[in-house]
Amino acid sequence: MTSLWENKTVLITSGPTREYLDPIRFLTNASSGRMGWALARQARRLGARVTVISGPSPDSPPQGIRVVPVVTALQMHRAALKFCPQADVVIAAAAVSDWRLPAALVHKIQRTPKNLRLTLKPNPDIIRAVSRRRKSSRSGLKQVLIGFALETRRPLASAREKMKRKGLDMIVVNDSSALSARRSRAAVLNRRGGIRKLPVQSKQATARAIFQEIRKFL
Ligand code: C5P
Repeated sequence: MTSLWENKTVLITSGPTREYLDPIRFLTNASSGRMGWALARQARRLGARVTVISGPSPDSPPQGIRVVPVVTALQMHRAALKFCPQADVVIAAAAVSDWRLPAALVHKIQRTPKNLRLTLKPNPDIIRAVSRRRKSSRSGLKQVLIGFALETRRPLASAREKMKRKGLDMIVVNDSSALSARRSRAAVLNRRGGIRKLPVQSKQATARAIFQEIRKFL
């Protein structure tokens, strides 16, 4: 029997991005990309075709998937728009840097006794851009979009608001202890008002539960 996933393509954004200030220094965050790899492994096990657009991650990707390596948010944005038209499911697990320098400096910033002032520009919201495309698509394909949220204040309420604002079907709320960790605690919310609270467990077990929830939207 062919599984539901065998004809499906899953696109995942994963890991941190880096925004270079000069040739040596960059802005980034503590994301390891482990959740993205766990999601990719689970999608592969279920039989889906998997593409991961990955920022720099210390961990190795699972076998049998396509990896599109990127460094900056703009590169991730470009790659996501390129690959999303073929995807049945798009999961935005990347921890994208919210800002960048308008243009990275060519030479190393020199130390001076004065304060250093940098003006940063906002990066595009990648999953929101994918969601806008979905709305304007005439192909009739109903793509399922999943995002992640990590908030220290009112996590469930702000995740719900984020799901709506970004036009997502589901959002996974992560505890900040998940960053760089092997285990995490999460809750999965969906646009129909459903909520599934997951225990503290491995990211692989969380990925399994996330795919059970995604199935309800296929
Ligand atoms: O707005 P916030 O960064 O909290 O939203 C988190 C969700 O949005 C994650 O799914 C993340 O991958 C996605 N995101 C994105 N592009 C950005 C910022 C966040 O796709 N520039």
